[in-house]
Amino acid sequence: MTRLSGIQPTGAAHLGNYLGAVRRWAAEQGPDDLYFVVDLHAMTVPHHPGQLRARTREQLAMLLAAGIDPEVACVFVQSDLVDQLGALTWLLESTCTFGEANRMTQFKEKAAGQASVRLSLLTYPVLMAADILLHGADEVPVGEDQSQHLELARTLARRFNTTYGEVFRVPRGTLPTVAARVRDLSDPSRKMAKSAGDGAGTIYLLDPPDTVRRKVQRAVTDTVGEVRYDPERQPGVANLLEILAACTGVSPYTAAGGLDSYAALKSAVADAVVDTLRPVRERTTELLADPAELDRIRAAGADRARQRAQPRLEAALKVIGLR
Ligand code: TYM
Repeated sequence: MTRLSGIQPTGAAHLGNYLGAVRRWAAEQGPDDLYFVVDLHAMTVPHHPGQLRARTREQLAMLLAAGIDPEVACVFVQSDLVDQLGALTWLLESTCTFGEANRMTQFKEKAAGQASVRLSLLTYPVLMAADILLHGADEVPVGEDQSQHLELARTLARRFNTTYGEVFRVPRGTLPTVAARVRDLSDPSRKMAKSAGDGAGTIYLLDPPDTVRRKVQRAVTDTVGEVRYDPERQPGVANLLEILAACTGVSPYTAAGGLDSYAALKSAVADAVVDTLRPVRERTTELLADPAELDRIRAAGADRARQRAQPRLEAALKVIGLR
């Protein structure tokens, strides 16, 4: 069974990425699994080359710091496989319709309000399908915001297989039981995101403890005044309870027990988040201090991923009429 997933270095990784995805990758990892930094995906909106390089390194260190062991799972950087992915993306773009790509809600949201939209923002989910199908993933552990992209990957795998021949496994997306969609602390109608506004509602994995505490203290609640898990009526409080639940390993209903004020809730959340993130933050800093070791891990992961991918790429090139 192969699990596979990736994270974009568009900005610093945040608590939503960790609780919704990365933490699970570390907990479930096995020798057939692949986890990677998707730097090609970070070029779909205007980007700064030096910053992309630095964030890719930081994110690779964060995956390792979170507990993904490169001696077990394959850990790599997406662009190290750019030749294979470029080839497979073209085959899949020739399998996908414009209408399918244009229907993606994330494309619509991100394209709205931009004067000039990169074509790669439209084809982004096809590159993501290539990431997944190239390695024969069975399961793709993601947060809720990736579900529609996962569906497209499934559609393309099935269509390719029935049109040309059985080459790809049809992957299945899996969501965490809590924290599938961690919300912005200042605006619980939005998901917590790397690029959100001034960052006040986003807890970054590398935020020092006092910053985490300040952000939690300022989180939006409501005027109900009771600590209850009711996402419809109390979205801000529900978000804090989900974060607390995810950090302490209980359900959001259980997490609410014994908390009789919003001040008590916020203090419990701040403690839980600080405790959860401390080891990740400390270990990331240590790893970043040894660039040669990171480079070695990156190169070894790339070799392993490339070798694993080549036979499937060859098979796809053959059945589609290119060999
Ligand atoms: P990205 O970088 O936006 O997010 C990485 C992972 O974190 C999850 N996530 C969240 N989970 C809960 N609450 C949130 N607020 C939250 N925000 C993000 C995401 O669902 C994701 O699992 N397109 C992908 C990267 C990608 C990929 C792939 C994933 C590229 N190729 C192949 C899986 C397989 C993305 O932009 O993730």
